[in-house]
Amino acid sequence: MLPTITWENDAVVMIDQRKLPSKEVYVRCRTAAEVARAITTMVIRGAPAIGVAAAMGIALGIRASRAAGTRQLAVEFQKLCDRMAATRPTAVNLFWAIDRMKRVFAEQVGTGAPVDDIRQALEREAHRIHDEDVASCRAMGAFGASLVPDDARILTHCNAGALATAGYGTALGVVRAAAEAGKRVAVLADETRPFLQGARLTAWELVRDGIDTTVITDNMSGAMMRAGQVDLVVVGADRIAANGDVANKIGTYAVAVLAREHGLPFYVAAPLSTIDLATPDGDHIPIEERKARELTHVAGQRLTPEGAQVRNPAFDVTPHRYVTAIVTERGICRPPYTESLGAIVKGGWGR
Ligand code: MRU
Repeated sequence: MLPTITWENDAVVMIDQRKLPSKEVYVRCRTAAEVARAITTMVIRGAPAIGVAAAMGIALGIRASRAAGTRQLAVEFQKLCDRMAATRPTAVNLFWAIDRMKRVFAEQVGTGAPVDDIRQALEREAHRIHDEDVASCRAMGAFGASLVPDDARILTHCNAGALATAGYGTALGVVRAAAEAGKRVAVLADETRPFLQGARLTAWELVRDGIDTTVITDNMSGAMMRAGQVDLVVVGADRIAANGDVANKIGTYAVAVLAREHGLPFYVAAPLSTIDLATPDGDHIPIEERKARELTHVAGQRLTPEGAQVRNPAFDVTPHRYVTAIVTERGICRPPYTESLGAIVKGGWGR
């Protein structure tokens, strides 16, 4: 399995996703500040993966702490949580992971645990978040594979693969599970301007797995659907609101509208940690606006003229009416999502 993120002695090690596929290099983060920078600069990206990174970053920061007592440790802990929370605003998995770390911290302090025990408990929780994410992806894949017919041509946008999670992937987990179940699958990977997660990362992962992969530009998907070259769409998500509206990589909305126009199912695969019942609908999801340079330059070369303004929202919202089903590790949610998502989060069955 791809080593997206691991904990090695005193460092959090990540494959540098900015360099793939031409270079397979690893970044060793020795401090929490380095982990936070790695999230902001997209060394690591993808909603579940940045949640894992934030949890490990907090554990790393607390491990380095010289705090003698719990009160001082609590001040440092809060600063670490705030630093991680300021990295990227859209993926709710980040805040979910920070909340899990906060709960463990509060429990430990509540039982009067000594500083060393608190440190160890936080490290254990970060590892649990990592391992549970891999298990969730596998379970999601098994449910999602049931939606994939044999000989399916699957269109995906961005990278919701092993690189975007602790391993295996959400949308690509569905593809992998279908392939492992013996179904013939072929993937059309949108290149995903401007960071090219599809062209660089999705294609790299799938080719390594021997899965039939074709990269297309983002503006080809409509023509491919019209030509009958697509059977279904599956994408990941950064945040799913209580009503089923889905925030995902910019361009997802256009794909969903095109899928509806062509009568194709549009599936979203995401763990429960991506479902945010506290956010009523997509209009309330904060959308990250990234630096113009990601768009104005390619490999250091300027593309756009000086003086032209640029917009670079990293995500868009797909209204729930375009979403055929949401695949989670507990089952498949169908409309009406206010009911099915609520039930699945509470432990019920979404099918
Ligand atoms: O900006 P990114 O690369 O972090 O955006 C990632 C996506 O939009 C993914 O589709 C989403 O996080 C789901 S990853 C399993």
